[in-house]
Amino acid sequence: MKRIAVAGLGYVGLSNAILLARQNRVVAVDVSAERVAAVNAGRAPIADPDCERQLAEGALNLRATLDPQEAYGDADYVFIATPTNYDPATHAFDTSSIEAVVASVRAVNSRAVMVIKSTVPVGYTAALSKRLGCERILFSPEFLREGRALHDNLYPSRIVVGEFSARGRSVADLLAKAAVKRDVPILLTDPTEAEAIKLFANTYLALRVAMFNEIDSFAMQEGLDARELIEGLAMDPRVGDDYNNPSFGYGGYCLPKDSKQLLANFADAPQALIGAIVASNDARKSAVTAAILNRKPRRVGVHRLVMKAGSDNFRESAVQDIMQRLAAAGIELIVHEPAAHALPESCPARLEPDFDSFAQNADLIIANRADPELAPYASKLFTRDLFGAN
Ligand SMILES: NC(=O)c1ccc[n+]([C@@H]2O[C@H](COP(=O)([O-])OP(=O)(O)OC[C@H]3O[C@@H](n4cnc5c(N)ncnc54)[C@H](O)[C@@H]3O)[C@@H](O)[C@H]2O)c1
Repeated sequence: MKRIAVAGLGYVGLSNAILLARQNRVVAVDVSAERVAAVNAGRAPIADPDCERQLAEGALNLRATLDPQEAYGDADYVFIATPTNYDPATHAFDTSSIEAVVASVRAVNSRAVMVIKSTVPVGYTAALSKRLGCERILFSPEFLREGRALHDNLYPSRIVVGEFSARGRSVADLLAKAAVKRDVPILLTDPTEAEAIKLFANTYLALRVAMFNEIDSFAMQEGLDARELIEGLAMDPRVGDDYNNPSFGYGGYCLPKDSKQLLANFADAPQALIGAIVASNDARKSAVTAAILNRKPRRVGVHRLVMKAGSDNFRESAVQDIMQRLAAAGIELIVHEPAAHALPESCPARLEPDFDSFAQNADLIIANRADPELAPYASKLFTRDLFGAN
């Protein structure tokens, strides 16, 4: 049994904390008193059915604290899962929360191995280690999906750790041993390669979403049946039928920011595709906006701000950009979002908590994902959700 600290109780931190607390002693630290209290009371501060269940069962060796010293003081490993938001002014992730954690760990613990699970720019870990003269920082990319965060760590597609060493192997083994799935493929790489794997993985997924969205934009423009087109493509096993459902654009906390960060990392390398993926998402939002405006609505109802079904998270969801464009065109907007008590300040809309008055008051309802509760309003529904999947 290892003594493990986890910094950050979001999707990545909480799911890793629960995963590791099945076999190890885990102390998780967050700056949010609300999140710490929730975890200590056996409640998940994020929507994730498996996290909720495991916390409620109470069989984990896990506690949460606001006190970094309590968490880091005697830890063998510190997993860092704090935010890295993309800063459009610097064209790079803001990594200050990671550096704050590393400084706190070094102040109270001279031996713990620090494992960065947050997504970072290519070259970050090597540069940070050199700048700090610190040789115990590793990077291990996180591949979970929101809404299935713990599931994806219990059944990981692969475990990648950015260090060829016994220590790198011990981190991989710790994660693999805690998983339910057996014989998880493990890949040890150099640190910068591990960082690039993460950004290329998400940018590839963004490319796939963008491709199927462009197929759908083409079909909308030319009056073709996008479903037939996509079904025909998906029958080729090299294309496959997963992750091919059109949407209002890729969104969420990872794909938009990770593809932009990767594009910034291409400053000196030739590329045409990475920039095109980022541009394609913008073009898709314009195409969807134009299709909505074509219906000549006066008052548009926006059903859910979340980026996908089963999520409670609407960070960077595509529909919010579409709302900005609709508002700029003079459209009145009302939103039904059960996961929100209030709308973000930038949101040019009114929140309507009552579903029936929301649906009745809108002359067109737009939904990135077509929830079954919209079925009675099918005649005024605009969605590009063709397959009922995320
Ligand atoms: N959400 C995903 O699907 C996903 C998947 C893979 C990788 N990632 C990456 O993992 C990182 C975390 O993402 P997330 O979605 O879990 O974020 P999140 O916003 O859900 O959670 C981050 C948590 O860190 C806490 N925090 C901030 N500063 C802290 C500090 N100094 N000490 C302790 N806690 C602190 C916040 O209060 C918050 O609870 C990001 O780099 C993200 O890009 C996210």
